[in-house]
Amino acid sequence: MCGIIGYVGSDQVAPILTSGLKNLEYRGYDSAGVALADDVLSIHKREGTIDDLTVPESTATCGIGHTRWSTHGPPTDTNSHPHTDCTGEIAVVHNGIIDNYDALKADLEAAGHEFDSDTDTEVIPHLLEEALERYGLPTAVSRVVDRLEGSFALGVVAAGRDEIVAARNDSPLVVGHADDGAFIASDVTAFVEHTRDVSYLEDGDVAHLDGGDVRVYNDGQRVDRPIQTVDWGADAAEKGGYDHYMLKEIHEQPQALRQAISGRIDAVAGEADLELSLPEQYLASLDEIQIVACGTSYHAGLYAKRLLERHAEVRTTVKIASEYAFSPSRDPWRTLVIAVTQSGETADTLGAMRRASRAGAKTLAVTNTVGSTAAREADDALYIRAGPEIGVAATKTFASQVATLALLSVYVGRTRGTLSSSDASDLLEHLRGLPGAVQQVLDEEPRVRTVATEYADGDAFFFVGRRLGHPVALEGALKLKEISYDHAEGFAAGELKHGPLALVTGETPVFAILTDGTSPDETLNNVKEVESRSAPVVGVSSLERAEKFLDASFSVPELGLLEPLVANVYLQLIAYHVANSKGRAIDKPRNLAKSVTVE
Ligand code: AGP
Repeated sequence: MCGIIGYVGSDQVAPILTSGLKNLEYRGYDSAGVALADDVLSIHKREGTIDDLTVPESTATCGIGHTRWSTHGPPTDTNSHPHTDCTGEIAVVHNGIIDNYDALKADLEAAGHEFDSDTDTEVIPHLLEEALERYGLPTAVSRVVDRLEGSFALGVVAAGRDEIVAARNDSPLVVGHADDGAFIASDVTAFVEHTRDVSYLEDGDVAHLDGGDVRVYNDGQRVDRPIQTVDWGADAAEKGGYDHYMLKEIHEQPQALRQAISGRIDAVAGEADLELSLPEQYLASLDEIQIVACGTSYHAGLYAKRLLERHAEVRTTVKIASEYAFSPSRDPWRTLVIAVTQSGETADTLGAMRRASRAGAKTLAVTNTVGSTAAREADDALYIRAGPEIGVAATKTFASQVATLALLSVYVGRTRGTLSSSDASDLLEHLRGLPGAVQQVLDEEPRVRTVATEYADGDAFFFVGRRLGHPVALEGALKLKEISYDHAEGFAAGELKHGPLALVTGETPVFAILTDGTSPDETLNNVKEVESRSAPVVGVSSLERAEKFLDASFSVPELGLLEPLVANVYLQLIAYHVANSKGRAIDKPRNLAKSVTVE
């Protein structure tokens, strides 16, 4: 996920871009840049944070800016946006993923275009260079976006032109309307200090900002995008109107999941396209997969274990990274060690990955951070593409980790011949349905908040689940304890009667996962055990007959083995609203850090 800002009008553009990028820094901060459009185009971009970027004073009144969260190509000065064409007279900023950039780049190189960066974005200015030979800027942009596959929000400027053209497909883009000009941005936060009058572009829209005049087209027809006035100001800006980053990131999950699966699913063929360099023969010969991770990422690994063993028929063990050692009884040549780490910088996980590598095993980093230590040191890297996660409590990155690991289970299963194309298609179709299913849960937030408030004063909080419900129970407990500071514990549901049941009273709310993939019928027996000891029970259930044993219940859409993952979104919202009812420092809970870079 990246941040885009653009302005054209009567004011000097440089300070507008700089402050806009600062407001967008939460969307990406591994590199940044601006293009100032005057008689000539001046580009200023570099790796690093916004504060590292130097934008000179300029009389230009038109320009675009970008802050990057890398998905293709590590964070470097050259890979930073804006990107330009061969002439240096066209500049583009982009948020999203161009799925067909390989083919486009090959055609452009064959036609003599020279590329500087490793990014997918750079194909766009070169395509525009060709289109501008025949069309004006707005039509040229329309023609080019018709050739792009994938998700994108674009901003385009050209030398000697006092105009911006923007386009949107599956990545957010808004237009700001002011007396002295017009803005484009990834979200309102970038320019809300200048205007609160906003129109929201829709997929397929091409917006032409000519001074303060804004015209929007879709499929070649002029369309109307009504101007709305947002009711929050700059102070809430960075959180997009949410009270906390954590809540914003919980609500970003549909978009994050769309990015995780974008361009990676061929449901018809039953294939997952992950662009991994691990040789197919190596994957076919694997004897074991070992997953090393911490905290939430460890829970994602537990979820993935069941998918990998089911689809790839390869023994999979999941180890807490700080406890990991490569066993001499294992054959390193036939063992793949997967480090799951959203930050890519967790010291315990890096240590485990290095121990595996020293033992001779191949390593794969599944991470959210391009260019991170884990990504650079592993033999291969697989990105979850969730965009930056600011809240210390991991939310959208858990969902994106599991979705990406589910894709990996299909990829390895199909490579090993242990997963039929029809079975693969079923899971891939469920992955396609995941963003929408999560959105349905998010739409239930008012009722979830009511339930959370009702049970917020419990003595302790128990989370129980079986099979794929077990890692979700562990994750639900971790989420609640780390932001509410209340005691919360996750259990394999069958374990309750072997001891923890002694803790259960009428003041210990129990949250149970009873969806597909969790042996709900057996779990219901455990629900009855706690319900008969007067504990309030909240269930996420697809079991009709469980209702009478639940004090509150929520449902998830039919999504097979991904239902527990969808159920987890309820637990994220429960944790958030319990903690918020207690006034906790939700984004920065006491004693914790977002990335634990010490062992
Ligand atoms: C989860 O909410 C916590 N922030 C923590 O457990 C985290 O998952 C753990 O530190 C691992 O971080 P990583 O994914 O960046 O390696």
